[in-house]
Amino acid sequence: KNIALLTGGTTGEWVVSVKSASTIAQNIDLEKYNVYRIMVNEDSWFYEPADSIKIEVDKNDFSLTVNGQKIKFDGVFIVIHGSPGEDGKLQGYFDMLNIPYTTCNALTSAITMNKGYTKAVVSNINELNVAKSVHLFKDQPHNEEKVLTNLNLPFFVKPNNGGSSIGMSKVKSASELTAALEKAFNEDDQILVEEFVEGREFSIGAFQYKGEVIVLPTTEVKTTSEFFDFEAKYTPGATEEITPGNMNEEEKERVERIIGEVYKELGCRGVVRVDYFLQKDTGDFYFIEINTIPGQTITSFIPQQIKAYGLSLKEFYSMIMEETLG
Ligand code: DAL
Ligand code: MG
Repeated sequence: KNIALLTGGTTGEWVVSVKSASTIAQNIDLEKYNVYRIMVNEDSWFYEPADSIKIEVDKNDFSLTVNGQKIKFDGVFIVIHGSPGEDGKLQGYFDMLNIPYTTCNALTSAITMNKGYTKAVVSNINELNVAKSVHLFKDQPHNEEKVLTNLNLPFFVKPNNGGSSIGMSKVKSASELTAALEKAFNEDDQILVEEFVEGREFSIGAFQYKGEVIVLPTTEVKTTSEFFDFEAKYTPGATEEITPGNMNEEEKERVERIIGEVYKELGCRGVVRVDYFLQKDTGDFYFIEINTIPGQTITSFIPQQIKAYGLSLKEFYSMIMEETLG
């Protein structure tokens, strides 16, 4: 079977995507799948079989012509974080071409790329809480006033469609708000400002296999930075990451139940990862966000959780491909 492994993208997570694709290329079962790594950049999509050769993708039917031979694909492994791989654009394109892909469909990807809209969908789930927040649009009046009258300090300011904490700030005093909004509006024209929830931070993967949602062991994140920012995320050793994270039996069962519901409520497919807090005093579950193309770099959580679950990455990627190809 010919598989296109799509990497790159048009955001600041480009570099993360390239590393994620390397993990997959190095671990996917090459006896079962012919893997073509395809770079998707703003202006061109290409396959690079050797340093000096670049073969452009024919976007009419998503094919390549290699040595005069036309190559079509049985499936696509999308590992582009952010646009256009995580927000539904490529999913819509492949739907139109009838080529199966590893991820959530176009609608789910589009909703989940928007942190504010996602909260609206999942907040009905039993036992799931969301931090109080306001959703701001660029060039609207009174944005700062809206934040300061509706929320209590400190808060997190996030580009609504962001990833890897790019453009994000923790605001501890009102005087820091303007700069934080500006920084986030540089990344997106929508912003989510959330009240800070004090608690233990976790991140948990889940994927569907043969009709069942498998919830992976969780990872607990203990960062020494002010929050789990880009540097803390991708510098090995910058953060203490414990897999499986420390939850008691009640918490484990409850979180597993909630994550199964989140997966179903959003109509997910493939592997996703939910970031959450357990509130300091009550242990209540606070949803932070869902990532529908979670990182697969060596310091990312999914590879660690797969191993803790007792699977090799090779087995895991085969399961994902089996589900995709049917
Ligand atoms: N957005 C990064 C890649 C993640 O969620 O892992
Ligand atoms: Mg994210």
